[in-house]
This record gives sequence, structure tokens and C-alpha cells, in this order.
Amino acid sequence: MRVVEVTAYGGPEVLNMARRPEPEAGDVPGKVRVRLKAAGVAVADMRIRAGYYAEELEPLRPPFVLGTDFAGRLLDPAPGPTGTLPAGTRVAGFVPWFTERTGEGTYAEVIRVDPEWLAPIADEVDFTQAASVPLAAATAQQGLGVLDLPAGATLLVTGASGVVGRFAVQFASAAGLEVVAVAHEGDESELKVLGAKHCVTRGEPADVLAQLLALVPDRVDGVFDGALVGDPVLPAAKDGGAFVALAKDRTPAPERDIRVETVFGRPDPAELAAIFQKVADRELITRVADVMPLEEAAEAHRRAEAGRRPGRIVLMI
Ligand SMILES: NC(=O)c1ccc[n+]([C@@H]2O[C@H](COP(=O)([O-])OP(=O)(O)OC[C@H]3O[C@@H](n4cnc5c(N)ncnc54)[C@H](OP(=O)(O)O)[C@@H]3O)[C@@H](O)[C@H]2O)c1
Repeated sequence: MRVVEVTAYGGPEVLNMARRPEPEAGDVPGKVRVRLKAAGVAVADMRIRAGYYAEELEPLRPPFVLGTDFAGRLLDPAPGPTGTLPAGTRVAGFVPWFTERTGEGTYAEVIRVDPEWLAPIADEVDFTQAASVPLAAATAQQGLGVLDLPAGATLLVTGASGVVGRFAVQFASAAGLEVVAVAHEGDESELKVLGAKHCVTRGEPADVLAQLLALVPDRVDGVFDGALVGDPVLPAAKDGGAFVALAKDRTPAPERDIRVETVFGRPDPAELAAIFQKVADRELITRVADVMPLEEAAEAHRRAEAGRRPGRIVLMI
């Protein structure tokens, strides 16, 4: 089968098309095979490729197959959240790289996954849309769960123009939070449609804070740091508030009784099923920036790293 391997840690040029034997039914107990139709290009993929997590992923070393998010069809029956999913079921999900370290990523025609990493997708959701959702939406939902703010509380979402940020804005607003979105200029109307009450323009943290304080003088109850700003945005939270970071090295030291936590998205099949149902019902909007063939994975990474992509780049397999 065709796969995209990381041949050595480095830039997009280290991504190489290769052929590997297709996994066989039952060759790893407990795992099921999925024939992939699409794989999202997650920020984590680029960081893994660049070697940013080389130590954390030890003993895994290149060459390995990259890729986190996936959508496709089950090749084997799998236990699902509400009963057995027969072979042929359309599914999507994500590979939890940091607990698995198998190097069997989703830039491949067939993958072996734990049934806990996926959920069925409705016929209305196409594979490219589905592959743009899993890790980002699960992380947004779980981050908000950790913040645990009551309806009516105020929340600042940094990186609200990004994939995780857009989902965080939508989940938070559906939960009754008053969302202030830190967004690119020009994205304000879209973010308001997605549920933001106010938008402030991204820029230097001091400017962002000044814009925020003009809108919410008492500071916000919670911060969802989707842009990994870290320390400089902690002053946005009120004393005794809550702050969710998405990376260890961008987790501020707590101060003023602010509860600071780091969240790493983990697959939860029931949660994924509910998320995909919201996408099918158009209650959760996802945005695909580009659809590119698997063979162009290196170019997809170049584009994603050039920044300012309105949505997820998805590889068609
Ligand atoms: N902990 C986890 O489990 C987990 C899971 C998923 C993602 N993440 C992390 O979460 C982050 C967001 O992921 P994503 O998929 O949403 O990426 P994305 O689509 O690239 O979004 C990131 C957004 O943040 C913006 N941004 C970057 N630096 C900023 C700054 N200093 N101030 C304001 N905005 C800024 C970016 O703007 P530009 O495009 O202009 O740079 C972009 O709109 C990534 O760093 C990713 O690694 C963590």
C-alpha cells in the first residue's frame, strides 16, 4: 500500500512516498483495519515531522508513517459506542500518538486502529470534512470540560481563527458561555456566526489585553489558549479564574489563584460520535482549507506551515 513516511526529522522534504505491506485482519489483537479516504494535516503532524517530540516519542524513530486524523471505511467489524459496527461502516477518528508510539500514522491507504479511537460518521458528512474534525474538536471539547465554566461565564479563546479555536468557540457558545474570540482581522463576522459575542484582533499580547479589557473590564472567567500564547495571555483571566493550555511548554505558572491546566486530546468514541452527529446536523461547522492528494503531503505541510490557512488541509487517499 502507499504511505507517506518521515524519513528523518526535518522540514517537509523529509516526507516521502513509500510502499509498505497492507496490514492483515487480526494481525494485531484488538486492532481493526480502516481503509482510509482522507487524512487531516494536523499541527501535531508537522511538529512530529520536525522532531519537536522526538524525545517524547522514543523509542520510535524515523522512518515511520505520519498522520493523526483519519476518515474511511472499516475493513473489519469493530465494537462501537452502541453495538458492533460492521465492516464497510464509514468512520473517522484519530491516533493518540503520544500513548501509542507505533509510528503507524494515517498518511496511508490502510491503518490498524483501536476501536476506541473512532466513531461512525453519517452519510451526510463527506470524508474530507470528517478528517478535518477529530483531534481538534475532541481537544476543544475536552479543554472546555476542564475549564468547567457555568453558563453565562466569560471565556477568551485565542487562535479562534484556527481549527481548534473555531471548534472551541462553537462548543463554548452552545454551552451558554460569553465568548471573546481573538481572531484574524476579517474573520469577525464568521466567528460571530459561530457564536463569539465579541472579537478582538490578534496581535501583540499587550494589544489583545487592552482590547479585551475595553470589552470585559473585570477580565474573563476562563481562557482557552488555542494559539499557544501562554504566559502573556494569563493576565486576561480574573483572580480565581481558569486557564487551559494545549502544550506543556506553553503552560503558564499559576498566579492569583488561577487554575491552570494542560489538556491533551484523547479519543473517546462516544464523544467522537456526538461530535460527528453535530457535524451531520450542521450544528458544528468545520472548514476544509484545501484537499490535496496523498502524494502531495510535503506540499501540504509547506502550505500549512506558511500559516493563515482558513481551516484544515486534508489529504485524499
Ligand atoms: N494539546 C492537544 O491535544 C492539541 C490538539 C490539537 C492541537 N493542539 C495545538 O493547538 C494549536 C492550534 O491547533 P490548530 O489545529 O487550531 O492550528 P491552526 O489551525 O494553525 O490554528 C492556530 C491559530 O492560532 C493563530 N495564532 C498563532 N499564533 C498566534 C498568536 N501569537 N496570537 C494569536 N493567534 C495566533 C494562528 O494564526 P496564523 O495562521 O496566522 O499563524 C491560527 O489562526 C497548535 O499549536 C496545536 O499544536 C494541541
